[in-house]
Amino acid sequence: MDLAWWEDCVVYQIYPRSFQDSNGDGIGDLQGIVQRLEYIKDLGVDAIWLNPIFTSPMADFGYDIADYRSIDPVFGTMEDAELLIEKAHGLSLKVIFDLVLNHTSDKHPWFLESRSSKDNEKADYYIWSDTVPNNWKGAFGGKGWTFDKKRGQYYFHSFLPQQPDLNWRDTKAVDSIFDEVRFWLQKGVDGFRLDVINSIIKDASFRNNPKILGSRPRPYDMQRHIFDRNRPESHSKLKLLRKLVDTFPDRMLVGEIMVENPGEPELAASYLGRTGDELNLSFDFSLINTSFSAQKWQRSAKRWYEAVGRHRTPAWVLNNHDVSRSVSRLSNNEDKARLAAFFLFTQRGAIFIYYGEELGLRHSFVCKKHMADPVGRRYWPFHKGRDPQRGPMVWNVGVNHGFTKGEPWLPFVKRANWYAVENQEIEGNSMLSFYRSLIDFRLDEPTLRRGVCEFHEQKNPNLMVFSRTLGKNRMLVVLNFSSQRLSVALG
Ligand code: NOJ
Repeated sequence: MDLAWWEDCVVYQIYPRSFQDSNGDGIGDLQGIVQRLEYIKDLGVDAIWLNPIFTSPMADFGYDIADYRSIDPVFGTMEDAELLIEKAHGLSLKVIFDLVLNHTSDKHPWFLESRSSKDNEKADYYIWSDTVPNNWKGAFGGKGWTFDKKRGQYYFHSFLPQQPDLNWRDTKAVDSIFDEVRFWLQKGVDGFRLDVINSIIKDASFRNNPKILGSRPRPYDMQRHIFDRNRPESHSKLKLLRKLVDTFPDRMLVGEIMVENPGEPELAASYLGRTGDELNLSFDFSLINTSFSAQKWQRSAKRWYEAVGRHRTPAWVLNNHDVSRSVSRLSNNEDKARLAAFFLFTQRGAIFIYYGEELGLRHSFVCKKHMADPVGRRYWPFHKGRDPQRGPMVWNVGVNHGFTKGEPWLPFVKRANWYAVENQEIEGNSMLSFYRSLIDFRLDEPTLRRGVCEFHEQKNPNLMVFSRTLGKNRMLVVLNFSSQRLSVALG
C-alpha cells in the first residue's frame, strides 16, 4: 500500500521566536532553526511546521501578515528561508509553512489600497459595510467591525482590528491569495498549515449569529458562529485551493478548523471533503479539551476516527502554540504525559508534536505586566495568555540554555537545567528518550502508522484497549490510566 508522506507522518511544530536565536537579539530565527535541524532529524520526525515567519507588525505575532512574499527581519531573510528549505530537504525533512489566508495585517498593501476609497482596484478585497450590520464579534475582544475614517466604512475582522478579514467572495482577491500560495509552492515548500480556514467565507447577507445562553468570560463564546464561519461556500474555495496545490507533486494542506468547545470532529472532518478533495489533513482539538480519562479519551478518539472514515487520514495533536502545554494540563504529572504520548504515537495517521513536548516542557511563568500575547493582555486573569506555552526551548545547562546570547524574549521554564536537551541526553529514562523510542517504534511498525484501529470496551474505567490491524498483522495496545497496577484479560 503506497501512502503519501503526510498520511503517516510525524510533524514537529516550531514556534520560530522561541526555538533558537542565532544573532543574540533574544528572539529565535531561521538561521537558528538551520543550526538545529540535525537534532530534529535525530528525533525521527518527517517534517517541520513553522508558525508564520513573514513580514508582520506582530500585533498577533505573525498571524497578521503584511507581505506574504518576504521574511520578517526578526526571523531573517529570503535567503535564510531558502537555505532552511534546502537543508531540511537535504535531511529528508519536509517543510510546512503557516499561511494565514483568512486575514492580513492592516498594514498589508492590499488593505492600504482597499481602505483608500470605495472604488479602487482592491475595493472589495476586504469586507466593508456602511453600518455595523450585525452582532459579529472579534475573537480577541470587542466588536468584529471597526470604522475606517479614510474610507468612511466599517471593515470586519474575526480577530484584532489590526487583522482585517479578506473577502473570499471576491474573485480578484482569491486570485491574489492563490498567487501567494503558488509563490511558496514554487520555492519548494511541501505543505501549508492553513490558519482558521473554516472562517474564510462569511454570510453574504451578514445575518446575526444566534446567541448562546449562560455566561462565559469571552463574549465571542456567547454566540454560535454559524454566519461568520463554516459557510457552505468555503468548501468550494478549498477544493480550488487543493487543485492548485495538487498541480505540484507531493504537497499537503493541513487546516486549523475553529470549533466550539470541546470540539466538533465531524465539522473538522467535513473540510477533508467527501471524496478527500479539500484539505489533506484537518486538526481535531477534542482531546486537548477532554479531561484525562480512559473512557473520555476513547470516546473522543472513536468519534474522530468515525468522522474521518477509513479512506481519509486523521491528524492527532496534544499541543500547539495556542493551548496550554499538555504536561501542565495534566497537573504536571509526567507519568500521565508519557501515557498521553504513548496514546498519541499509537494512532493511525499524522501526528503533530510541538517543540519542547519531547522534553516534557512545562509553562514559563509570565506575569500580566510582561504579557506579550494580545489575548492574555485583554482577558487576564480569565485567560492567562499564550506566552506561557511559547517559552524558549531549553538546549543546554547554564546561562540562557543555548537558546540565545542575549535576553530571551520570554522567560525560561522554572528548573530549566533539568529539562535541557543536554541533561536529558545523559539521563537514560528521560522524556526525550521516551519520545525518541516511541517515534522509532512507530517508524518500524507500519501497523501502528496505518493499521485500522478498533477499541475493545472494558469494564474497568481506567483501562483503554485497542487493536491495530494491517493485513495479517495485529497489535494490541493496553493503556492503564490509573496509578494502580491493573490486570486485563485478553482473548
Ligand atoms: C489561530 C492561530 O493559531 C492563532 O495563534 C492566531 O492568533 C489566530 N488564529 C489568528 O490568526
